[in-house]
Amino acid sequence: MRIFGIETSCDETAAAIVTDGTHVESSVIATSRTVFKELGGVIPEEAARRQLQCIIPVVQRAFSDAKRSWKDIDAIAITYGPGLLGSLIVGTTAARTLASLHGLPVICVHHTLGHLTSTWLDAKSSPQFPCLTLSASGGHTDLWYRTSHTTGELLGSTRDDAAGEAFDKGSSLLGLAYPGGPAIAACASEGDASAFRFSAAMREEDTLDFSFSGLKTALRYVIRDLKEPLEMRRADLAASFQHAICEQLVSRVERALDLQPATLEVHVVGGVSANLYLRQMLKKRIRLPVRTPVSLSYCTDNAAMIAAAGFFLAQERPEALLRTLATQASTPLSSAIFRDLSMPAAMPRE
Ligand code: KG4
Ligand code: ZN
Repeated sequence: MRIFGIETSCDETAAAIVTDGTHVESSVIATSRTVFKELGGVIPEEAARRQLQCIIPVVQRAFSDAKRSWKDIDAIAITYGPGLLGSLIVGTTAARTLASLHGLPVICVHHTLGHLTSTWLDAKSSPQFPCLTLSASGGHTDLWYRTSHTTGELLGSTRDDAAGEAFDKGSSLLGLAYPGGPAIAACASEGDASAFRFSAAMREEDTLDFSFSGLKTALRYVIRDLKEPLEMRRADLAASFQHAICEQLVSRVERALDLQPATLEVHVVGGVSANLYLRQMLKKRIRLPVRTPVSLSYCTDNAAMIAAAGFFLAQERPEALLRTLATQASTPLSSAIFRDLSMPAAMPRE
């Protein structure tokens, strides 16, 4: 089954063609990151305006890269939420129009289910269930125990900021670029991770939830109280801050594994899974196989993961193939994995 996927939930405009949920024939990503780099964050109106300009060329490029035409496509998978409403509307409108033009069914994919599926893209060996998946991006930080693509349990979530958001806010406090993850990682490579101690959030609590906002406040106070200029300590601060975020992520994975002894693999997905320090820490401390997406471009937002998730949704839940779709800016996590296929009530069916 060959699926055409579209993803426009934040500032990327992405389209991809994926066969059987794993083989990526093309994956095109247009990003307005350089514009937002200067502005220090995404401006929703501006992101949607740029996505409107990019969507048609990106769709065309996905077909030319894969050397495919519409007659080769079996279904269209689209991120219907969560995300920025204007951005989502660009993608869902394109998907709706293309589906009716080419007489194809649409599969609505929760953005998080896309990330959860990203470890299947071009994987050299097939991932195994049950797996524990840490999904950490700029918008969410969740820990899942999954028994199939569409069944599983949400074990923990962030109570405030997402891990990627902590990187972004920390980067801004340190006078570094947006997005903060890669900027902090680069700066941290010159620093000493034990130079500053940021106490672990909720360490004593028996929880699988996360909390990062205290860390950001702690960084603000450390910077305010520095005796020397920030430039002299920036690398040490970046390294120590990165260590504190990663330590919290890894400690929750360890705790979850104690509670879920049948787990066969640990997966780490989402923009933060691109972090090499986090990957090293996981490899050192987790005894099970740890999988991250095979390419850094599959860690951050992309349409290949949406096409792949669409394939597995259609396989496990054929009722996911829809003829009409709705767009939801705020999409409950309960609809990312369907325990009993409770499709979001707001999603109309034909
Ligand atoms: O998954 P993603 O592209 O978009 C969302 O769904 O949010 O994740 C973007 C987030 C940003 O917060 C960015 O700072 C973070 O992922 N990120 C990283 C790295 N690369 C991107 N965080 C840590 N280390 C990285 N190398
Ligand atoms: Zn994402």
